[in-house]
Amino acid sequence: MSASVSPQLSAFALDVVEGLSCAGQKKISPRYFYDELGSALFDVITLLPEYGLTRADERILQSHAHNIVSEVGPVSIVAELGSGSGKKTKHILQALTRAGNRIIYRPIDVSRAALTACERDLGETSPVEPVCADWIEGLSEIASARTRREPLFLLFLGSSIGNLERKEITEFLRRVREHFQPGDFFLLGADLVKDVNTMVAAYDDSTGVTAAFNLNLLGRINRELDANFDLRSFTHEIRWNDTERRIEMHLRSMRRQRVYIGALDASIGFDAGETIWTESSHKFTPQELDSYAQASGFTVCRTWIDEEWPFAEALWKAVPT
Ligand code: TRP
Repeated sequence: MSASVSPQLSAFALDVVEGLSCAGQKKISPRYFYDELGSALFDVITLLPEYGLTRADERILQSHAHNIVSEVGPVSIVAELGSGSGKKTKHILQALTRAGNRIIYRPIDVSRAALTACERDLGETSPVEPVCADWIEGLSEIASARTRREPLFLLFLGSSIGNLERKEITEFLRRVREHFQPGDFFLLGADLVKDVNTMVAAYDDSTGVTAAFNLNLLGRINRELDANFDLRSFTHEIRWNDTERRIEMHLRSMRRQRVYIGALDASIGFDAGETIWTESSHKFTPQELDSYAQASGFTVCRTWIDEEWPFAEALWKAVPT
């Protein structure tokens, strides 16, 4: 690798090559979806008729912001894992302000593009202090910078929790809890198991936007890592895995081919029909969410469920551990 490659770029390059050169299923981490184009495509996904998830999340936040905020009580810092869409978060920030809180909003995201969009959308509602970092790293920075008298309210919306492996979830929530003080609050948005056709269509829309979002990962590798993926020779593929209760998103190579990645002077071979696994989106039951709370040092205050598109908004409070 050349000496001019920045540390972020080389982490990206190394992750890509590692994920594509393993013996079995090739994979690339979903964290790399969100360059400027990927973030813009994701915003479009949230508008698709088939993708009811974001609208359900927003409907609950909009109609229950007042109830959520009155359960939570006084707050000084609202942090968010993933900078989310300003539209959703705004309901909470406005309700907190109306209830007399003076808050600072601190979105945590690895994507600069996402943080910039979020500052643009929410800067008028509250002071925004973004943290460009991994979720736990960013949370740790926010938690250690605050005083005992500054109650924290952490948001984790849009069912991003579903993008973790099930076996990683409790461990992840425990790490979140380590940065909380008893009495701090956590609002978790999680998509629920529903009819299979509805779930599959949400990730395989007829307009092809989710396909473009998925393929952009290869486009980004071409642009930033000097690779030569032929995007037209890969197709978007969605599977429902009933055992794991998750949607799996893949990119399938339609022919046998070799791709060269300039930044690492490496080349990767694909068989005809071979796939790269790019994302999982787990779907939950309300009971399952309650048991995650219990296992990770929280008590459930209340869970709201959208009737139109089964989706849960769970409000948890950190209990002494
Ligand atoms: N976490 C959300 C979900 O799983 C949003 C999301 C992440 C998404 N990656 C995606 C949506 C890829 C569509 C395609 O639904």
